[in-house]
Amino acid sequence: MKFSRRISQLKPYPFVEISRIIAQKKSEGVEVVTFGIGDPDIPTPKPIVDQLIKASNNPSNHRYPETDGLPAVRKAIAQWYKNRFGIDHLDPEGEVLPLIGAKEGIGHVAFCFIDPGDIALVPNPAYPVYEVGTMFAGGESYAMPLLEKNQWLADISHIPSDIARKAKVMWVNYPNNPTSAVADKEHYMELIAFAKEYDIAILHDAAYSEVVYDGYKALSFMELPGAKEVGIEFHSLSKCFNMTGWRFGSAVGNSDMINALFQIKSNLDSGIPQAIQEMAIEAMTGDQRYIDDNNITYTRRRDKVVAALKRLGLTCSPPKAALYIWARVPDGYSSRTFTAQLLEDTNIVVTPGSSYGSYGEGYIRLSLTTPDEMIDKGIERLDQWHIPPPPES
Ligand SMILES: Cc1ncc(COP(=O)(O)O)c(C=O)c1O
Repeated sequence: MKFSRRISQLKPYPFVEISRIIAQKKSEGVEVVTFGIGDPDIPTPKPIVDQLIKASNNPSNHRYPETDGLPAVRKAIAQWYKNRFGIDHLDPEGEVLPLIGAKEGIGHVAFCFIDPGDIALVPNPAYPVYEVGTMFAGGESYAMPLLEKNQWLADISHIPSDIARKAKVMWVNYPNNPTSAVADKEHYMELIAFAKEYDIAILHDAAYSEVVYDGYKALSFMELPGAKEVGIEFHSLSKCFNMTGWRFGSAVGNSDMINALFQIKSNLDSGIPQAIQEMAIEAMTGDQRYIDDNNITYTRRRDKVVAALKRLGLTCSPPKAALYIWARVPDGYSSRTFTAQLLEDTNIVVTPGSSYGSYGEGYIRLSLTTPDEMIDKGIERLDQWHIPPPPES
């Protein structure tokens, strides 16, 4: 077969390999504790699932959906932004687009901007889809290192002006995966000024805005003055309402950008099943206290895991938001050698930081979407583990 070059350029998606290792271990009768993928273990709240059951009995939901969704779902997205962030300028007709999960829109949006040879500014480490979407569209990713010395924020002052002039988009993601970094108004305003100066579209991924600790409140990019002139924001019900399995996300903001994404999507997909759109309406307009309940659980887990990693001698800080602990591996280990050693000695799975990009080297990511009893088992194993000397390099 003559497969495309882009297939051979694709690295395996990190979690495909991790799922394979877990399945292999399970088949050997080993109990694995996984801090791998950020997939909430807590079920979707009952009223949301009940809405799906009800909606699936309605024959009008058995037919093709529209790519831009039900008018009611677009309204619910705009209303949710108003209730949550006080944003009242999003027009459900033209500035709001439902997605088959944020990942789908994030992957497809590159086709709106990137022609072969074009540049996308991509944080590193980052959610892998920004770079993959760019590659699919024939573009090149220019890495914006996220470094500890900058509180893991992108440092745009280091982007050479010839690169900035050529760049078409900049990916931004706060609260961040994998570092859990959060951004303040000042940082966003710098990005908006930069985007205006160089005519760059900002693609802000806010999938984790609702997973927060200790009273922290994340900003929406759309709250910032000027944001809608330069960008759109991706959001998702996956993490806030434990809805990863149902696939519902959204893009909001600049109407030209939303329309371009609609054009791409309407030629490639046929929208979100309507019964799932009805679930999403229930999630966004119904009881929001589920989000607080989740965050109580994640806070308890965060505190236990951070304390255990510190007892083990790893360096990490408790995050203010997002689902992840980002910890530095001991000297002499790489992300991968440490991850492999941990798995071999304790049957604990974590994600190597290097799978999010070269600047993630030297770190591991632990997701807090592991049931409490498994977290406790994992911590027991960590407390008994003596990290062996690193392998000879
Ligand atoms: C930063 C980031 N954006 C988007 C997504 C995807 O969200 P969804 O489940 O809505 O596709 C994820 C999933 O892990 C993520 O980490």
